[in-house]
Amino acid sequence: MGKSWLWLVALAGLFGPSAPQEKVTARIEAHPPAPTEYHPLTLTCEVSGDPGPQQFLWEKQGSQEPLQKGPDNTLFFPSFNKTHYGTYTCTATGSQGCVVATYDLWINDLINSVFVFPQETKDAYVLVKATPEQPLQNFTVCLRSYTDLTRPYSLFSYATEAQDNEILLAKHKPGEYRLYVGGKFVSFRIPKGSQMGSEHICTSWESTTGIVGFWFNGKPWPRKGLQKGYTVSHRAVILLGQQQGSYEAGIDAKRSFTGEISDVYMWDVGISTQEVASILYNLPVEAPIFGWRNFPYKIEGEVYLKP
Ligand SMILES: *[C@@H]1O[C@H](CO)[C@@H](O)[C@H](O)[C@H]1NC(C)=O
Ligand SMILES: *[C@@H]1O[C@H](CO)[C@@H](O)[C@H](O)[C@H]1NC(C)=O
Repeated sequence: MGKSWLWLVALAGLFGPSAPQEKVTARIEAHPPAPTEYHPLTLTCEVSGDPGPQQFLWEKQGSQEPLQKGPDNTLFFPSFNKTHYGTYTCTATGSQGCVVATYDLWINDLINSVFVFPQETKDAYVLVKATPEQPLQNFTVCLRSYTDLTRPYSLFSYATEAQDNEILLAKHKPGEYRLYVGGKFVSFRIPKGSQMGSEHICTSWESTTGIVGFWFNGKPWPRKGLQKGYTVSHRAVILLGQQQGSYEAGIDAKRSFTGEISDVYMWDVGISTQEVASILYNLPVEAPIFGWRNFPYKIEGEVYLKP
């Protein structure tokens, strides 16, 4: 088999422009992409360009013994914890040789830190580097913000190619939050003029009923409804501190956030008031898609991570 394949390559080389052989590559993906401690985690070794049968050797750097060897391309951790941190390699052997992929498994814990957005600009935001793995029938987003802005501003912007405001959590004015789903919104009025402090918000949506939940500083607000039967796409760009406009229009400084954002979580399920209470202390019961105890992000422009 190996020999005849070489022979074909040699022939192709002799007889002029050959179809370029697709390069065999491997990469390791984590599911969920931002794993939570004490929750299940799967690493998957994805090989492209080689249709042949494969063997997968899983190793952890610094360990003598291989972790796993065989046809299974997944490595499963029933309860991910600190002892699992490290660099993992997967060596996939197939009909066209072997390829190696590596993955650094660690946690980006932001507890006791906040993102500071010091000034109004359209160039500063935080890109969240984890997105849902499947379309969403349910979601919950929680975050804490601290600002003295009185104009409209955007906190959490989840845009898809088809819909800029696929999910948008924004403050419209001092007494009003808005949640957009698929471009439509509901408002939640909160007391204004009370003394300034940080505001903790959780909001949830479920497709089957369209019901939107809203919790302000841990307290549930009367539920409302929006976009019953809708499905939220998972191919999204998620930003903190800016609203994503149409691809041509870009970002609008007049909706930008100044102040502090922290304690950001997103789940693909609904949430109970009991769980909101534990989220106030950054102790999630359900594993989030991403959360403050493992927050994958990239800063663009002037935003700082500070204690
Ligand atoms: C982490 O998980 C391993 C099993 O993979 C277990 O043996 C160990 O006790 C766990 N450690 C902690 C601190 O929970
Ligand atoms: C979404 O939530 C509803 C109501 O809680 C539940 O019945 C349904 O199974 C959930 N769907 C998914 C895909 O999680």
